Amino acid sequence: MKGASPSLLLGVTGSIAAYKSLDLIRRLREEGVTVRVVATSNARHFFPLLSAEVFSDHKVETDLFSGGEGSGRIRHLALLDSADLLLIAPASANFIARLSLGVADDLLSTIALSARIPILLAPAMEEAMYVHPATEEHRVRLAGRGVIEIAPEEGALASGRSGQGRMASVERIIEAVRQNLSSLPSSSGNNALSGLHVLISSGPTYEPLDPVRFIGNRSSGRMGMALVRAAREQGARVTLVTGPTALTAPPGVDVHAVETAREMKASLDELFPSCDILVMAAAVSDYSPVSALTDKRKKNGNGWSLNLQENPDILKALAARRRPGQYLVGFAAESTLDREKLLQKCRAKGVDLLVANDISNPFTGFGSSENEALLLTPEGSCHPVSKRSKEALARIIFENIPLPRRPSDGKQ
Ligand code: C5P
Repeated sequence: MKGASPSLLLGVTGSIAAYKSLDLIRRLREEGVTVRVVATSNARHFFPLLSAEVFSDHKVETDLFSGGEGSGRIRHLALLDSADLLLIAPASANFIARLSLGVADDLLSTIALSARIPILLAPAMEEAMYVHPATEEHRVRLAGRGVIEIAPEEGALASGRSGQGRMASVERIIEAVRQNLSSLPSSSGNNALSGLHVLISSGPTYEPLDPVRFIGNRSSGRMGMALVRAAREQGARVTLVTGPTALTAPPGVDVHAVETAREMKASLDELFPSCDILVMAAAVSDYSPVSALTDKRKKNGNGWSLNLQENPDILKALAARRRPGQYLVGFAAESTLDREKLLQKCRAKGVDLLVANDISNPFTGFGSSENEALLLTPEGSCHPVSKRSKEALARIIFENIPLPRRPSDGKQ
């Protein structure tokens, strides 16, 4: 790191996705990164320079030959001197081609040609341009030179068409920056989970009976959110799958909002393979109506008998298809804590750690800010954690996880 905090040069080129770069600046600064923006002349059509100056707290650089910060020295070199990384987001097809050919006819391209720091590109363009053989050749050539591409996503494009070419989400870009700026600080100073992907489920699920009614439970999502914060503090990449709650995740968390147990299952099924640690703190409804009414049910004097079916056990199913090295934590909300039964549950679920709490105590558990728990492992260990804040319990849970081996472990 060249300064007290990591410093990044953000190149913005002429793509409609440039409007997202403002959010990117805001998020990078929240992560403690100093951001200097360099915009191409085409970017000016899509990118509010004044807003970018306010968000970055620095003048936006556009001109190779004008004065400004560091004037009196060679402009592009002065900017590069203080930068740890060059991120170009959005990177237009035109800019990718110029970078590949080594053109240096404006400030950003001259910086890119002189840079001896990591270069990250987040392409954004219509699918036809992205898949064109010319662009493909440039991307391959740049990859061969060590330029890192943050691949665009499939989805709606500016033209109204759908396809590949949408700039990667701000969170994916931040993640790529994090991986290439190893010195991004964690707020607690404890980076035990750095480089790991932690997947957390949280909150209740709602199982609809008709358009207005549902079967839910009293889970507030507070325990899950405390786990999210603890994992973030320790440097993890965090993905949260949450049922309906009033809580907002901290910045930098990839949030997937779901409503029913089946939606939660679908989301977790997709996200699970990429995680190192799964913490299943959600209070998943064990039952759902066999069918939901499409119109609101009216009173008819006859009462209403519900026909419920058991929901799939998400955690058990995920545990059955885990890959080596993944670590699974389950929760058990019980009316009485019977160690033998809990141990059986821990083994039956196939988890590495079961966090059991007693829901009969009105001062802990559902909805409250505090919790007390038993931490059990399938080997038979049982560790009581006395009453404390959910944040403190969350930190203890992560401390009890023997960290999976990272790709870099064991290398000579
Ligand atoms: O079996 P029980 O509902 O007590 O299990 C609790 C644990 O299993 C929690 O971690 C909860 O998130 C998870 N669970 C699940 N799928 C269900 C019910 C609970 O994954 N259908």
